[in-house]
Amino acid sequence: MKAEVDAMHEAGIEPKLVVIIVGNDPASQIYVRNKHRKAIKLGITSIIERRPQDFTQAELLALIDQYNRDDSVHGILVQLPLPKQIDETTIIRAIAIEKDVDGFRPENIGKLFNNSQGYYPVSCTPKGIMTMLSHYEIDPRGQHAVIVGDSNIVGRPMGALLLNAGATVTYTHILTKDLASFTRTADILIVATGVAHLIKAAAIKPGATVIDVGMDRDENGKLVGDVDYDHAKDVAGAITPVPGGVGPMTITALMQQTLELTKLATQ
Ligand code: GUN
Repeated sequence: MKAEVDAMHEAGIEPKLVVIIVGNDPASQIYVRNKHRKAIKLGITSIIERRPQDFTQAELLALIDQYNRDDSVHGILVQLPLPKQIDETTIIRAIAIEKDVDGFRPENIGKLFNNSQGYYPVSCTPKGIMTMLSHYEIDPRGQHAVIVGDSNIVGRPMGALLLNAGATVTYTHILTKDLASFTRTADILIVATGVAHLIKAAAIKPGATVIDVGMDRDENGKLVGDVDYDHAKDVAGAITPVPGGVGPMTITALMQQTLELTKLATQ
């Protein structure tokens, strides 16, 4: 990507990402800082707009509108979750479609679930996971992929991407009865629940690929995943650690999508 950014600079193009963060969610603070650092490293201009916990929906809509109308900006990301006085759906739909760097707008989600061809942005964590699977030559075609967690940011788009890549997909979630009976049949297991160490070694099929999207704290305050890594690693064929597994891939996907939107806006 660095070479691509350098070439853009030589052509007089300055890729620019705006990240808006409202309130003081501690995990969000870390994500936003890491995104900013990576952008700077690549030569992508990154603007962080920090607003207080009591920022109103009208104020946030006005801020988004300002960047929608700013032609020098190629991507707008509103960090989730938002404080409770602000409606997430309204905010996502306020971002101009050509700047929807998260792929959260209904039009882009529709394309994903239709397996539309051509470029459109996709939620960054699932996209980064697909890049990781591809890098390690783990081909989802014909494999049983089990998704644990039905969030709009990870679980749902992840299932769609894997289905589009030829996997047989099972969605499981908080209401699923006997979760382990599903996870034990997974060739590819994606866990995104926010529950520390939810998935134990006995719930994993020997040789399975295990992708842990969790960013949880254990009883000692240590950062851990949704999978009991220390035991699961002896059963899995491949497994991502927390931290350092999926997180960096999410940021990579965000940078890639910023560059894609920059190209679309400037070609
Ligand atoms: N919060 C957690 N992950 C994400 C993400 O990928 N995008 C946004 N906007 N907020 C998030």
